Order: sequence, then C-alpha cells, then structure tokens
Amino acid sequence: MAKQKKLYMGTNTKMTKTTTQTVEFLQGLYDATKDISREQFELFVIPSFTTLARACASIPANTIRIGAQNIGWAESGQFTGEISPLMLKELGVEIAMIGHSERRHVLMESDEMENKRVLCTLRNSLIPLLCIGETKEEKEQGRSDDVLRQQLRIGLQGVNPEQARCLRVAYEPVWAIGEGGTPASKEYASEKHGVIRSVLAELLGNAVAEEIPLLYGGSVNPGNAEELIAMDDIDGLFIGRSAWQADAFNRIIRSVIPVWERK
Ligand code: PGA
Repeated sequence: MAKQKKLYMGTNTKMTKTTTQTVEFLQGLYDATKDISREQFELFVIPSFTTLARACASIPANTIRIGAQNIGWAESGQFTGEISPLMLKELGVEIAMIGHSERRHVLMESDEMENKRVLCTLRNSLIPLLCIGETKEEKEQGRSDDVLRQQLRIGLQGVNPEQARCLRVAYEPVWAIGEGGTPASKEYASEKHGVIRSVLAELLGNAVAEEIPLLYGGSVNPGNAEELIAMDDIDGLFIGRSAWQADAFNRIIRSVIPVWERK
C-alpha cells in the first residue's frame, strides 16, 4: 500500500447491541482484523452511548477507533439528555457522528443543530463524521446537489480550513439506508461524492477538500462493496446491517482492500 490517503471502513450499530453484545462484536472484529496493517487502513465502530466505556476498554488502542452516535453542542450545562464532548473524551471515544439520517429525519435535527455539534466536536479535538444525504423526494425533484450543498454549507459554517483537516463526511442518501433502502449505484454514489468534494473545495480550499475522507453509506453489502470502493472520490464505506457480525464485516473489509490498493 503506497497511497497518501487511508481506506476508511466503519459501522454504526444504531440501537441494536447491548454492552455485552458490543464488546463481543468488537473483540471478534479485533481478532479477525488484527493482522491488517493500520498504516493505511482505518477501522471504526460507533456503538450506543451506554456501551462506550466498556467498548473503549475492550480492545487495544489504535486498532479500532470508537465513535459516539451523537454529541452535545456544549461542554456542560442545562442540556438534559445530551452527552458532552468531555464525557466522551474521558472514556477514550475519538469520533463523533453528527447528522445521521435517523437523527435528521426521525428526530428532526436541523442543519443548524448539526453545525453546533460540529463546532463543539472540533473545539474539543474529537473527529467529526458529518453525515449528509438527500431524501427520495429531493432526488426525484432533481434537488440532490442543492441539498448536499446546503447541508455542507450550514453544517460547516464557522469551521476554518485548518480545523477541517480532521473532518470526515459520510454521504448517505436517505433512500438508500436501512430495511427497504435501495443502494445507490456506484456511478450515482461517485458522482455525488464528486459534488461533495467540489463543495468542500469551495468552502475550505482545494488542498483541504482533497484530504477529507468521503465515505459512502446506505445498503452497502458484500455484493456492492468492491464496486463502490473502486470508484473515484469514494475513500471508504460506512456500513450498517451488513457489518453487524464481525465475520461478515471482516469479509467485506478483506474484499475491498485489494480493490482499493489497485485504485
Ligand atoms: P445500512 O445502514 O447499511 O443498514 O443501510 C447505513 C447507515 O445507516 O449508516
């Protein structure tokens, strides 16, 4: 592997695993992948809040990064039900997922809220994984690019290019996610990643935009992972259901590494 950019592979376990199940999953994934050099490959898992302390302690450092499924937008204060970045850092959490489709569309979070979370994440030296994506209706109305532009423009307001170097973006079209989702074609996903890259360049400059990993998510499975990772501007995969068993996730990882190396 002699590339500048790493391959990023991650999963969000949503609200599906208890602490015991999360620890078992992480240890299985660690065992299955420990022979793979992390020099140019990053693996991350984003489990439920209640699992995070045990999750971080359950695997050796620098093997699988642990992320939180959301993050509050203040360090402390009157925000019942929110989790502060200080609390996450204390546990060893490194990544904060922000704006997952289910937060936006089930829990009605706005771009302005995601922006406050991004700023708080950066202020506290955590890695923001900003999720964006258009709905089926927006796609049918031909508004996908505008929606992505707006989600980035508002979501990243006030972020300076230097801070943005640690940002990651996941493109997850809402119509592609979860049970009943239709995966984006490789051509469509790559085209939208190109749009995202160019908006990032407008906002942050070319050099920083090139550095930001863009991950595709939404019904990634063993049948489409390789063709997706082969495409331009797709730097990683963010997987739900197909990655929730350690063996299955390991098989996907091993199938995409050679494809990514040939890119
Ligand atoms: P899925 O979930 O792979 O099960 O479609 C993706 C996601 O929600 O991130």
